[in-house]
Amino acid sequence: YKENPVFPEGFMWGASSAAWQVEGGVSEGGRTPAIIDLNSKKKKPYADNSIAADHYHHYKEDVALMAECGFSSYRFSLSWSRIIPNADGRVNPEGIAFYNDLIDELVKNKIEPIVTLYHYDMPVWVDEKFGGWRNRGIIDVFDEYVRVCFENFGDRVKYWLSINEQNMQIVYGHWLGVSKGCEDWEKDKWSVNHIMNLCHAKAVIACHEMVDGGKIGPVPGYVPIYPETCNPLDQIAAMNAEELTEKIWNDLYVHREYNGFVKKFWKDNDIDPGIQEGDMELIRKAKIDFFALNCYRSNVGKDAPPDSGFRELALNKSGIKGEFVYPNYPGQYALAANPYVETTDWDWEIDPVAMRYMLRYVWDHYQLPMMITENGYGAHESVDADGKVHDPKRIEFLREQIYQVGLAISDGCEVIGYNPWSFTDLLSTGNGMAKRYGLVYVNTTDEEVLDLRRIRKDSFYWYSELIKSNGSNW
Ligand code: BG6
Repeated sequence: YKENPVFPEGFMWGASSAAWQVEGGVSEGGRTPAIIDLNSKKKKPYADNSIAADHYHHYKEDVALMAECGFSSYRFSLSWSRIIPNADGRVNPEGIAFYNDLIDELVKNKIEPIVTLYHYDMPVWVDEKFGGWRNRGIIDVFDEYVRVCFENFGDRVKYWLSINEQNMQIVYGHWLGVSKGCEDWEKDKWSVNHIMNLCHAKAVIACHEMVDGGKIGPVPGYVPIYPETCNPLDQIAAMNAEELTEKIWNDLYVHREYNGFVKKFWKDNDIDPGIQEGDMELIRKAKIDFFALNCYRSNVGKDAPPDSGFRELALNKSGIKGEFVYPNYPGQYALAANPYVETTDWDWEIDPVAMRYMLRYVWDHYQLPMMITENGYGAHESVDADGKVHDPKRIEFLREQIYQVGLAISDGCEVIGYNPWSFTDLLSTGNGMAKRYGLVYVNTTDEEVLDLRRIRKDSFYWYSELIKSNGSNW
């Protein structure tokens, strides 16, 4: 137990979003469809993303609200198909203009833009031409895209993020749609992952080449994993789970070499990740500057003997409670429930200590600056009779989480920013507007598009006070 933690001067306080979840305007300004647009339409009754939070039309108002809240940073993503809408590779001036305006508005308000290059929104044209991430052809078009971004926005954007949650896209490939078209995902995922690693590496190299003072990092989705008991076998299972969901990726980003665990895993399972001559030289050149970390929850690993039967991660059809059934990887690990923590309406563990655990773990292993780019509380919410939105549970969630970030700092970790998910309400990946995360309410529902009015939630005012005190006013 420690005194109240002290956040460093210049700490970046903000919030986070992703283009397809917040923008809307999917057919405007020359944007062409992304695969995720089509998927989100299929997920009815949840809202599709054609309007989302309509940030495309409300961005000035949204940035004004961020400034009012006292933000010093805002993490958002660029829509690839808004910037390069077609296979001819032509850059869309309207797409560039939209992001220029947004970035200018942020800079005018002294809010540091932190920009994700890719957040799940594969353009349909890329998918049609290359089958998504499955084909090495994507490496060059991704490189062209990121270079357009650095060239156009690099004068004002100094913090760049490569691929959002590459690890989650591979681990949960069926859920996030990356496995589409693959015959044997358990094997194919490693070559898809290798192609993503090459795209990431090229983005890191291009950023350093093109952006004066530019820094770039990956964005792992991080779910700390505790052993279920002090049975040594559970500890090994937790380590296996850590490797197979997180560490393989993080080691690659930092050491720029596949680690021993994954090489052995490939050998044992007869997997060819499709590494070609020159690939590792390229990866070795890509030195990241920091880690951007998304952390919402924690997990528990327990021993899963080789004969325990394979159980694939599956979606709970209700889509409301228990989105995921815990998977089982015989001989590696099984995930289990944690009786010590509460859960959200969606069965996500509410575990603030996991935040400190993650920061300590990543710092101990890699000694690179870290920023939180996602963390948040998803809940059903509506406007109260008094016209306000009261979200005491979100305040409690954020307070506890931020406190743990502070403790990690006082433990010696270098943390440079906190950008929770999300600023305004926006579409959840699988649950539309039913699962709200915002500090600002957006007046619309999955069933009916309303006036999209912004209403500051109680958490907005609380967060604003916290920011003013640089994290000391709880
Ligand atoms: C992160 C993603 O993994 O989790 C976000 O980067 C996503 O895009 C967030 O919205 C929360 O997940 P969900 O499913 O509740 O929207």
